[in-house]
Amino acid sequence: MTHIRPYRESDRAAIYRICVVTGADGGDATGHYLDDTVIPDVFAGPYLEFEPDLAFVVDTGGDTAGHVAGYVIATADTRAFVARYREEWLPQFAAKYPRETPGSAVAHGYEPERMLIPEVDDYPAHLHIDLLPEIQAQGWGRALIRTLLAELAGRGIPKLHLSMSPANFAAAAFYERLGFHRLRPNTPELLGIETDAAI
Ligand SMILES: CC(C)(COP(=O)(O)OP(=O)(O)OC[C@H]1O[C@@H](n2cnc3c(N)ncnc32)[C@H](O)[C@@H]1OP(=O)(O)O)[C@@H](O)C(=O)NCCC(=O)NCCS
Repeated sequence: MTHIRPYRESDRAAIYRICVVTGADGGDATGHYLDDTVIPDVFAGPYLEFEPDLAFVVDTGGDTAGHVAGYVIATADTRAFVARYREEWLPQFAAKYPRETPGSAVAHGYEPERMLIPEVDDYPAHLHIDLLPEIQAQGWGRALIRTLLAELAGRGIPKLHLSMSPANFAAAAFYERLGFHRLRPNTPELLGIETDAAI
């Protein structure tokens, strides 16, 4: 039966795949880069490595190993995450993808400090969420975020933010429906929420 459960290391490949097939404003980004691991190496790998306890998956239970069809991943402390990314993740990232590799994901990968927005002290946590099309629009996105918020609230983290592509209109509608608010009046791609919000 489909359910949400904590991440385990054997889910990593499935999460990498989901990250790619939802990586183009919610659509499939397969083949957009020379190497399909670029996007997950920026937007998934470091979260799984540094904060596996804040990762949750939707498991559709297709076989004994389970079948992961969606995930939410996060950091509780964006400042600490950026520092670890620079020290521990960037050296292996740079060894894998030369700086001149074309594509915005590679550029993002080299610039973790882009995450240090002024609002980060008020909204220290941030997240990424992606579901395969087969389980979208059935309440799993809401349930994943609810699970993550409860975990963060339990740790005393008061607020969470996220940064999204302004072209991902479906995701924007989803976040608005859940009660996320804009952190700045004219910046629709930067949203926040209290971790004790009833969503
Ligand atoms: C965006 C995403 C995480 C939403 O998760 P989901 O499981 O599809 O959404 P849910 O079924 O939990 O929807 C929760 C609420 O948001 C609303 N909602 C979701 N998508 C919506 C849309 N495109 N338009 C309007 N409302 C939407 C639902 O109607 C629901 O409201 P209700 O409970 O009052 O009926 C998921 O669709 C997804 O992973 N998409 C592809 C990857 C992506 O875009 N990730 C986000 C990157 S920033």
